[in-house]
Amino acid sequence: MNKAEIIQKTVGYVKETLAGDSAGHDWYHIERVWKNALLIGRGEQADMFVVELAALLHDIADHKFHGGDTEIGPRTALAWLEKLEVEEAIVSHVVEIIRSLSFKGANVPTPMRTLEGMIVQDADRLDAIGAIGIARAFAYGGYKGRMLYDPKMPPEAHDSFDAYKSSNTATINHFYEKLLLLKDRMNTETAKKLAAGRHAHMQAFLDQFYAEWEGRA
Ligand code: ADP
Ligand code: NI
Repeated sequence: MNKAEIIQKTVGYVKETLAGDSAGHDWYHIERVWKNALLIGRGEQADMFVVELAALLHDIADHKFHGGDTEIGPRTALAWLEKLEVEEAIVSHVVEIIRSLSFKGANVPTPMRTLEGMIVQDADRLDAIGAIGIARAFAYGGYKGRMLYDPKMPPEAHDSFDAYKSSNTATINHFYEKLLLLKDRMNTETAKKLAAGRHAHMQAFLDQFYAEWEGRA
């Protein structure tokens, strides 16, 4: 199978697997991350086959929906790529990227070893901020039955992935615990520029939110 066929088959597999998701990992999230990755990758000397496969498969199975099993994503991607008989070095690179991708808390570093990984991480994080990021956060909070905001609950900076994962606070806290931190954790220049605009949009949203909450607007 050539590379284009592998990409096409993977698109079909991902669409089928994620059909019906409404908690932030539907096919359109994957498609946006894929497009972001292609855009960011254009200015870099990266192996775009690895970038595309990792972008397409990065949320194929999420620990949040599989009892906290953080290996479920890498394992599912590995099985798929082996089935397609993708070259071993490419498979292990894609799986490594998927394993290292996620945000794990304000005080937990999430280093990426390769340029390809940095591109996919940036692409995924761009989709967690800005107008779409706001929409996804509230969709996820609703799915989890969380409050929009609770002024009595201050946000926390998590020191471990476990502490971050088990946090169950109001959705507004998620902005301080993750979303507003992402612009300074972008790897590539292209993503840094895009993130700045999206960050400003979230900041304006929060200002307006508090103004309405307090009856000032
Ligand atoms: P990503 O696909 O960007 O790696 P995640 O898998 O961590 O993101 O989460 C999916 C979406 O749900 C993201 O937009 C993320 O910001 C949002 N989300 C994750 N955890 C929370 C939370 N505790 N409260 C609100 N939104 C959340
Ligand atoms: Ni994602």
